[in-house]
Amino acid sequence: MSPSSTPKFKNPRAKYNFQGRTCSIAGVGAYVPERILTNADLEKMVNTTDEWITSRTGIKERHIAAKDEFTSDLATKAALLAMKRAGVTPEQIDLIVVATITPDMPFPSTACLVQRKIGAFRAAAFDLEAACSGFIYGLEVAQQFIMSRTYDTVLVIGAEKLSSIVDWEDRNTCVLFGDGAGAAVLQNRPGAHGLLTAVMGADGRKSDLLFMAAGGSRCPATAESVSSRMHYLKMEGKETFKNAVQAMVTAASEALRRCELDISRIKCIIPHQANRRIIDAVGDRLGAKPEQLFANLHKFGNTSAASVAIALDEAVTTGRVQAGDLILRVVFGAGLTWGAAVIEW
Ligand SMILES: CC(C)(COP(=O)(O)OP(=O)(O)OC[C@H]1O[C@@H](n2cnc3c(N)ncnc32)[C@H](O)[C@@H]1OP(=O)(O)O)[C@@H](O)C(=O)NCCC(=O)NCCS
Repeated sequence: MSPSSTPKFKNPRAKYNFQGRTCSIAGVGAYVPERILTNADLEKMVNTTDEWITSRTGIKERHIAAKDEFTSDLATKAALLAMKRAGVTPEQIDLIVVATITPDMPFPSTACLVQRKIGAFRAAAFDLEAACSGFIYGLEVAQQFIMSRTYDTVLVIGAEKLSSIVDWEDRNTCVLFGDGAGAAVLQNRPGAHGLLTAVMGADGRKSDLLFMAAGGSRCPATAESVSSRMHYLKMEGKETFKNAVQAMVTAASEALRRCELDISRIKCIIPHQANRRIIDAVGDRLGAKPEQLFANLHKFGNTSAASVAIALDEAVTTGRVQAGDLILRVVFGAGLTWGAAVIEW
């Protein structure tokens, strides 16, 4: 084998003999609502300070959707941009997957509402709920359809209107979250490596660390559920923090191991944008250099399933990642759920 044909890294998919089939991200897009809510604004709403929020989380501001702007609207804007960049028409889309914990309504799925808005009437459509890990779960699901030749073009969207489930009287949580959407068009693009591997995990035993109690079959809406604020998300911050760091490090290490990659080979690590201290702790434990870590949570806060999708869009559009670069994405969310993916851009 000549040096030029020596593989640069191991492709874990290769052993499944997909005969040259790859799953590449053909285009990305993101959208955040216009309205910005700063830490100074929050100082007027709850007993908090810009200093506390900045030092404990790294967040300075977040975007908040308008009253008449819903998750499907944010998702549609991000999707149309990703489709334009990928050069894909609505008719070409075979499947739409929307990862969200804030669907427009319990049913029909937000994916169906997006299908209608973008006019992709040939596409199957469903929502996927893995909280903040949803976008990586979605990429992995899309990849399975593409590698198995079931579909050629899949649109994966992470979209959230978290402002609709945040308790604006609870300073422990309301400072953390924001609204937004990110999308990716996945296709078989021969010759490109694309998505190399994705690790997914979950631990339902810790489902009580981060949840919204009411609105489902267990506790349908009643006057009491509303008055006792059960339609808002609740979180055990400290425990969530610890679990996040541990799960993200484990998932990222496993993804790297599968590709036989050392962390130094990764150009850009895109972690879930929940807390700057989580990002730094994960980077530190993986042995990454600070310049490898991508962070934009100071502008957007935690946008759950949209978080790494918005971050990828920014990393690509600002030139932080270039063709051929290796990207490591690592996420964590309610469930608990977690995931990590290695992508050759
Ligand atoms: C929420 C989080 C920022 C809190 O940071 P922390 O360092 O753990 O802070 P603590 O929970 O120890 O709280 C410290 C104090 O600050 C207070 N506090 C909480 N929110 C506050 C706010 N917005 N402003 C001012 N004080 C606040 C607490 O009441 C507590 O006060 P006390 O000591 O008098 O009880 C942090 O735990 C975190 O980021 N957790 C993970 C969250 C996450 O990622 N969730 C999504 C996962 S996908």
